[in-house]
Amino acid sequence: MARILTGIQSTGVPHLGNILGAIGPAIRMANEGDNEAFFFIADLHSLTTIKDAELRLANIRGVAAAWLAFGLDTSRHLLYRQSAIAEVTELTWYLNCFTPYPMLANAHSFKDKSDRLADVNAGLFTYPVLMAADIMLYDANEVPVGKDQMQHLEMTRDIGNAFNHQMGDTLTIPEVKLQKDTMYVPGTDGRKMSKSYGNFINIFEKDKKLRNEIMSIVTDSKELEESKDPETCNVFAIYRLLASDVESAEMAGKYRAGGYGYGHAKQALFDLITKRFAMERARFRELMENPEEIDRELARGADRARVVAREVVGRVREKLGY
Ligand code: ADP
Ligand code: TRP
Repeated sequence: MARILTGIQSTGVPHLGNILGAIGPAIRMANEGDNEAFFFIADLHSLTTIKDAELRLANIRGVAAAWLAFGLDTSRHLLYRQSAIAEVTELTWYLNCFTPYPMLANAHSFKDKSDRLADVNAGLFTYPVLMAADIMLYDANEVPVGKDQMQHLEMTRDIGNAFNHQMGDTLTIPEVKLQKDTMYVPGTDGRKMSKSYGNFINIFEKDKKLRNEIMSIVTDSKELEESKDPETCNVFAIYRLLASDVESAEMAGKYRAGGYGYGHAKQALFDLITKRFAMERARFRELMENPEEIDRELARGADRARVVAREVVGRVREKLGY
C-alpha cells in the first residue's frame, strides 16, 4: 500500500484551474489501487503571508468544501488541517537543526518570494523545513506535486537523509511524483488561470456572478456575422476542456460558419459548467451553509493523522535523547 500525501494551499476558494489541474487528478490518484491519501490544508504555511484569522478560517473551509464536493472519500482517505497536528511544529524544529543554511538560502521559491513580498519573514525562509516535516511526520511514500514544488521535495529528501545518516534510520524518505493527467487551464484573459492574475472562474459562485465571470472572458471584436477562429479564442479554449469531442466540434463549426457571436459561445460555456458541475455546486453550497459539517470532516481526518504523527515523533524523540 502506498501512502500518498500532499499539501493544499489555503489561499481561497479553488477555481476551475485548481479543480481540473489539481483536485480532480489528486482524487483519481488517491483512488488507484489500495492507495491511502493524506491530504491536508497547509494553514500553517499560509501564516507566512496571511495574518487575518477570519480570512484564514474562511479559506480553509472553502478549500475543504471544494475537495469534499468533488468526492474525496473521507472514509478511506484523510483530509485535515495541518495546524490540527501540533507535532508538525515539533518535528520542524528537529529538522531545522539538520538543515544546512545554504540549502534554504538557495531555494528558488524563497528568492522569488523575497523579491516580490514586502514582508520577508523567517517563516518564509524556513518554509521548506515545515514542508519536510509535513511529509515525513506521516511516513509518506509518494508526494504528488507540480513542477514548482520539485525543489522543495528534493530538500525534504536531503533533510531526511541527513537525519537518517546522523541518527540512524528513522524517517521514511518520500518519492517525488510529478502530478499526472493534469490539465492546463487558461484564464479569462488567455494567460494561465490564477488567483494572482484575477482571471479565474469560480464555478461555485451563484449563477449570476458565475455568468458575469464567463461574460468577462476576453475575445476579439469580430462582428456576429463574421467567421471566427476557435483556435485563438479564449472562450473556446475553456469550453473544449469541459465539453465532449462532439460538442467541441459542433461549436468550432459554428465559429467558422459565422452568424455565431462570442455571447452565444459564452452562454454555451455557462450552460455547460452549470450542467456538468451541478452536483458539486449544490454540495459545496450545502457544506458552506453548514460549516460544522466541514469542521467535523476535518476533525475526523486529524484524529487519524494524529495517531501516525505521535508514533513517528516518538521515534524521532527517542533517537535524539528527548
Ligand atoms: P494559483 O495560481 O491560482 O495561485 P496555486 O498556485 O495555488 O494556484 O495552485 C494550486 C494547484 O492548482 C497547483 O497544483 C497548480 O498546479 C494547480 N493549478 C493552478 N492554476 C492552474 C491552471 N490554470 N491550470 C491547471 N492547473 C492549475
Ligand atoms: N508548498 C506547497 C504549495 O505551495 C503546499 C505544501 C505544503 C505541500 N506542505 C506540503 C505540498 C507537503 C506537498 C507536501 O503548493
